[in-house]
Amino acid sequence: MKLSGMLSKIMDNYICLRRVSLATLPEACRHRRTRRRIFPGHLASISAIFALVSCTLVSCTLTSCATPAKPTPPASMRIGVLLYRGDDTFINTVRTELEEYVKEYEQETGVKVTLDMFDGKSNQNTQNNQVDRAISLNCDALCVNIVDRFAAGVIIDKAMAAGVPVVFFNRAPVEEDMNRWEKLYYIGTEPKESAVLQGGILVDAYQKDKSALDANGDGKVSYVLLEGENNHQDSLVRTEWSIQTLKDGGVPLEKITGGIANWERTQASALMESWLEDYPGQIELVIANNDDMALGAIDAVDRAGLIGKTPKIVGIDGTPVGKEALKAGKLFGTVEADTRQFAKVMFDIAAALSLGRDPAAVADLTDGKYFWSPWSPLTS
Ligand code: BGC
Repeated sequence: MKLSGMLSKIMDNYICLRRVSLATLPEACRHRRTRRRIFPGHLASISAIFALVSCTLVSCTLTSCATPAKPTPPASMRIGVLLYRGDDTFINTVRTELEEYVKEYEQETGVKVTLDMFDGKSNQNTQNNQVDRAISLNCDALCVNIVDRFAAGVIIDKAMAAGVPVVFFNRAPVEEDMNRWEKLYYIGTEPKESAVLQGGILVDAYQKDKSALDANGDGKVSYVLLEGENNHQDSLVRTEWSIQTLKDGGVPLEKITGGIANWERTQASALMESWLEDYPGQIELVIANNDDMALGAIDAVDRAGLIGKTPKIVGIDGTPVGKEALKAGKLFGTVEADTRQFAKVMFDIAAALSLGRDPAAVADLTDGKYFWSPWSPLTS
């Protein structure tokens, strides 16, 4: 109850008191009648008012004033989602899952969610301006797939100044940046885990039948490697652990060549086309850091008309297009990220932050700020 309301209640009671017998007052108020004889004038009335104030306050405390105002959840929230490149297949899969999940969330909770999507088109300056825009749109939280993971400082400065929490995803800022503010989170997939599973698919195949990988039977598996962006945490770790797992699994390896195709199907296709020309009939295995580059290798193999003599090709991601190629027998294996869970946890954390709740209550966080989405191997 507001103070003005309380005072008017007191005054009402006082006016009432002037009209009715004090005998009708509660016990605590009634004993003050005796003082009338001792003190002159209006003292009894004043005392009665005082008693009423106390009674009113007590009754307020026990009734409406005692009930703490329940925080009513906002009927809407606004989340800015900033993609490093809108046409990246894996990122698009996450985006689709996010949009699907948000629809379910809205239906379940009745909270209206606005997702403001931005495409950074591989340009950090563009993305920095998009952060300004998202903040000016009053976004409650940002989900940022940063273009240059070493440039997170600028975005963090902007977010801190505006008090808008950030959930980075897929492209990890360095730890030093992540430790700058308690409202920074990261959702990603464990690169080592995906690579060990990718290598494991090949080790299993080799152990079952050596000729599955060593097609020419010369005692070595001759491979080429397609790598993602050179400063992306996933490329470096995936390359290292795929090869290490093959070695640990006793697969004799010979590297023919390798190259950076920046996660892109067309770049991988161009590289593979030239390798097929440079090393005719020699490539037995293509290890790609992601499905899109594996698909680029398949495109080049198809163009070269190598059907039947194709090298084995493996990827990572388990994107819808990757799984189609697996089904068609063109992709030998991949490792599937749980993009549904990835998107769900990312949104749940952003929503918790928007509502001022603790993200640890909605996700199993490592070091209080990292969430690692799991992988599973897929073979044809
Ligand atoms: C995915 C790639 C994707 C890249 C973008 C990686 O984790 O495996 O497919 O292109 O992230 O940052």
